Order: sequence, then structure tokens, then C-alpha cells
Amino acid sequence: MNEPKENSMKGINSYSQELTREEMDKKLHRGFVGGMWEELGLLQFEFLRSRGLTPQHKLLDIGCGCLRGGIHFIKYLEIGNYYGMDINDSLIQAGKVEIQEAGLANKLPNLLVDDQFRIERFGTSFDFMVSVSVFTHLPMNSIIRCLCEVKKFLNKDGIYFSTFFQAPASIWMKPLQHHPGGIITNYDFDPFHYSVEEMTWIANLSGLNFKLTGEWGHPRDQKMAAFINCTEPGSSVQEKQL
Ligand SMILES: C[S@@+](CC[C@H](N)C(=O)[O-])C[C@H]1O[C@@H](n2cnc3c(N)ncnc32)[C@H](O)[C@@H]1O
Repeated sequence: MNEPKENSMKGINSYSQELTREEMDKKLHRGFVGGMWEELGLLQFEFLRSRGLTPQHKLLDIGCGCLRGGIHFIKYLEIGNYYGMDINDSLIQAGKVEIQEAGLANKLPNLLVDDQFRIERFGTSFDFMVSVSVFTHLPMNSIIRCLCEVKKFLNKDGIYFSTFFQAPASIWMKPLQHHPGGIITNYDFDPFHYSVEEMTWIANLSGLNFKLTGEWGHPRDQKMAAFINCTEPGSSVQEKQL
């Protein structure tokens, strides 16, 4: 067995831990990204479809993990239009196995491992971006880095959807229990919570606008944020997309 490797999330969240081949063979990666494999995979897919995703769009899945949502997106999108990025190499490797098992290799998904959200490595820009259960594991500085990179590669009328745990007010230092799901979140350690005001502030620092979308049925009470960079009149981002 190889020595476990670690990445820059060491001490911040559990995704510095690389799974072994044996663990992947037992499909433990599905639990490592939070379980509810079918439910949460389909939920994110249906959400993006309801917000206008079509097979012709290019989608970037930031923190794609082992493709819980990715499998559904890859199946739906035209060849080559799915892009996934994650910090954890073992999850990307497990995702490649999931692609093979789902018979989707012919869809030519683009996957890469990166610990700095370097979207430029894909050499393209995007209509849609999504992160499910990623900001929930990230401190604010890492979210700002992510948003600054997103800003550079989000098409003019593009939208980045990302989930987070919502705090009722800023600098909410007490633990918070969320329902449904019962998850307890924290101000300065994983899993993290943020107020709408804090999300708005870091979006604006990064050159983006933030909007909280409506209820989307997440079983653990994660809220869905929409980030856009098109504030000019004539933008084709529709109110119903946000
Ligand atoms: C709960 S999992 C969710 C994975 C996927 N979005 C899904 O819905 O199944 C969180 C993911 O975020 C990734 N992640 C955590 N910190 C990251 C970082 N700094 N950069 C990129 N990915 C990160 C983890 O490796 C993991 O795959």
C-alpha cells in the first residue's frame, strides 16, 4: 500500500486525505464525499437544468470529487462539455472509474487535480459553474481565491452556483445546527457557515455579485448561492435563473 499523500487542505478539512486503491475498490469514495450518492447527484443535476443548463453549454464543476453530480452532467452534456476540478487526486481517480462503469468515457470529460482553483489550466471559459458541498468545507480566504478565479473564466452572462451553510448574521461564532440533516456548522472550522452579508462581501471583493436562490430541497439544509458578473443592462441572465 502507498504512503497516504496529503494536500494543502491538511488541518482545514478532511480532503487532504487521499483514499487508497483498496478503499476505492470498496466504493468508499461515495461516502467520503458525503454519501446520498443518487439523491444529491440528481438534485444538483436537476437544479442546473431548471436554471437553464442545456447540452450545448460548457459546465465547470469545482470540487467535483468523484463525480456524484458529474456522472449526471456528463451523460447530459455534449461531448467534451463537462469540466471537473478537485484538490484530491484519489477522488478524481475514483471519478474516472465511475465514468468507465457508467459507460460514459466516450463523452470525453475533462478532469484535473489542482489545489489553487487554477481554472486557466482548462484553457476555456464557462457558461455555468457549480460547486456542491465545497464552500461548506472552505475558510473564507479559500472561497475568495476560488471566486477570483471564477471571475476570470465565467462568460459574460454566465452563472456560478455554489452551496453553503447559512448563518443568521455575520461573525456568528456559536455553533449552528441545521435542519433538516442535523449538521452542526462553525465560524472558523469545518464545516463552515457564512451569513448572506459575508457572502455578498466576499463576492464583491472578487468582482462578482451574489444572490441567494430560493429553496432547492437540499436534505442537509445547504443553501444555493448564485454568483454573476454581468450587472450591465441588457444582460441575458434571467431573474428566474438566480
Ligand atoms: C463533500 S465533497 C463534494 C464533492 C462533489 N461536489 C459532490 O457533490 O459530490 C467536497 C469536495 O471538495 C473538494 N475540495 C475540498 N477543498 C478543496 C479545495 N481547496 N480545492 C478544490 N477542491 C476542494 C474535496 O476534495 C471534495 O471532493
